[in-house]
Amino acid sequence: MKGRALLAPMAGVTDKPFRDICRQFGAALTTSEMVASDAKLRNSLKTRERLIFSEDEKPRSVQIVGSDPMALAEAARFNVENGAQIIDINMGCPAKKVCNVAAGSALLKDEKLVATILETVVKAVNVPITLKTRTGWDKQNKNGLSIAKIAEDSGISALAVHGRTRECAYKGGVEYETIANIKSRINIPVIVNGDITSVEKVKDVLDYTHADAVMVGRAAQGNPWIFREINEYLNTGAKLARPTLEERQKVLTDHITNLYLFYGEYRGVRIARKHIKWHCEGIQRYISYKNVINKIESADKQLAIVNQFFHQSIMEGEKAA
Ligand SMILES: Cc1cc2nc3c(=O)[nH]c(=O)nc-3n(C[C@H](O)[C@H](O)[C@H](O)COP(=O)(O)O)c2cc1C
Repeated sequence: MKGRALLAPMAGVTDKPFRDICRQFGAALTTSEMVASDAKLRNSLKTRERLIFSEDEKPRSVQIVGSDPMALAEAARFNVENGAQIIDINMGCPAKKVCNVAAGSALLKDEKLVATILETVVKAVNVPITLKTRTGWDKQNKNGLSIAKIAEDSGISALAVHGRTRECAYKGGVEYETIANIKSRINIPVIVNGDITSVEKVKDVLDYTHADAVMVGRAAQGNPWIFREINEYLNTGAKLARPTLEERQKVLTDHITNLYLFYGEYRGVRIARKHIKWHCEGIQRYISYKNVINKIESADKQLAIVNQFFHQSIMEGEKAA
């Protein structure tokens, strides 16, 4: 891989248009949003959309989620036949929709099942299988290390660890010490994840955990530049300037145009709203545009108002955060 900063899979965010931008700015690996292993859902629009990749998205990593070893193995085979070069297994997602069917991080409760799933999927295909997990189920059951050892013994090629338990969801500090411990006890690459928000933090966290790479999630929302900044900082120690408003405008308008093309106008305009917010909320003038932007229903008008917003902000000499 060309760098040590990877994009975290985020359902509802890391679709093809978003991944393409993050790669353009230097994300070394991007992964699809999670897709259900259940074959019955394979033909749903959601699953089909989540399995669309750009030609240059290499290696092509598909994340699968589920709890039935055979169904997960079958999903891995299906995706490899359709071009996946890495299969990532989701054991990190705390979402109710996922956990109620004992998938995602709910699986961490059942180490025997984790072993069976990992061994079965590794045997099913001949591409690397990676695992995304957490530090445990809850504070009393921090079995992240045990899961990491199971992963290594099962033939998993790399392990990404979000430094929180399932119970903690996204709250509280990230336990980098647990990730450092995991890294010191296993021999497969470990990717550290959770609250990586600045280049300085990347350096500190890598030095502290000795992890092989970092995985950035929410800090990339409205901020694909973070990958370019991390790569530069790790390579040369230099801190790049933040993007200008002109660059922001170009990247955001290209992004939302790609959303219209990918999802069609009706859904594209609605999906674009959150990306516009993430890009613009650090710019003062956005407060007066927010409600207007969120009510617009046509692509032309949305694009026009975004351009007008940037034009005014640039004229007034505003700076983005
Ligand atoms: C909106 C959203 C969707 C997510 N969807 C997934 C997912 O599909 N698969 C997964 O493994 N993790 C998912 N996650 C977890 C992230 O990959 C990541 O582990 C988490 O956000 C912590 O990293 P961060 O602090 O850099 O955001 C999601 C997180 C968010 C905020």
